[in-house]
Amino acid sequence: MIKKAVFPVAGFGTRMLPATKSIPKELLNIVNKPLIHYAVMEAIAAGIEEIIFVTANHKRALDDYFDDNFQLNQALKEAGKTDLYHEMKDIAGRVHPIFVRQKEQKGLGHAILQAASVINNEPFVVILPDDIFYSKESVTKQLVDRFATVQKSIVGLQSVAPEKTHLYGVVSIDSDEGNGLYKLNDMVEKPKVNPPSNKAIVGRYVLTPDVMDVLASIKPGVGGEIQLTDAILKVCQDDAVYGMEYEGRRFDCGNKEGLLRASIAFARDYPDTLSALIDETKDLHNNHR
Ligand code: G1P
Repeated sequence: MIKKAVFPVAGFGTRMLPATKSIPKELLNIVNKPLIHYAVMEAIAAGIEEIIFVTANHKRALDDYFDDNFQLNQALKEAGKTDLYHEMKDIAGRVHPIFVRQKEQKGLGHAILQAASVINNEPFVVILPDDIFYSKESVTKQLVDRFATVQKSIVGLQSVAPEKTHLYGVVSIDSDEGNGLYKLNDMVEKPKVNPPSNKAIVGRYVLTPDVMDVLASIKPGVGGEIQLTDAILKVCQDDAVYGMEYEGRRFDCGNKEGLLRASIAFARDYPDTLSALIDETKDLHNNHR
């Protein structure tokens, strides 16, 4: 069973400035919950018990989000707002967070490497909380369930438009193993030309711990950064790595359009926001006629 998940959360969130000048991008909102809340609940639904946040000094608000706020709890209790009180206790009580610092911004691979001693030679999940999924079943759970049979690293895959491949890690497929699972034979981080396919790696990974040794020794790749994709490629060459197309819709919430689309998608789950959404959309259509 996989019990640990690494959440790299040290980035500046420059694509969402000025909102992210004083608020961590992971605390940007969809309806009434921050992005990190959805991502953590997805991990919990996959059986994850320990969450390792790879963080930085400007991200302290994240620690607070997963801690008890004693004064708030007390005030909610006294005001008889028991549902809210229990909801707040639930957020703080369901996760065992561990915070490790990434002192320099040297890339995603470097961020993951900071969690090596906590991972301690166990398979683990990586969740990039910019990527938020609207799905029936937790996307992390879908990956973890497949890992139980293959026992090799698995990356989440999504087909993207050819003009978007340069934004992703892009894989090459060796064989189709059925039910959305592929054995991989190559992957390239942000290919400028000749992408090996249109299947892009999304922000969900199940990794075997050998990737940590590779991360400790590889040279910087694209953008002068230690790239997670490069380390997974080495594991692929030395052993085996799979890719999996998941059930669900992905939203890149690190940019305006993705965050807005996610807000609309998730608004469907809240009856009060759904009616507001329908009203506003009607207005929008009318104004554009
Ligand atoms: C990272 C990874 C990339 C992956 C992407 C998914 O890139 O390096 O391989 O395809 O996440 O969101 P970033 O978006 O952080 O530049």
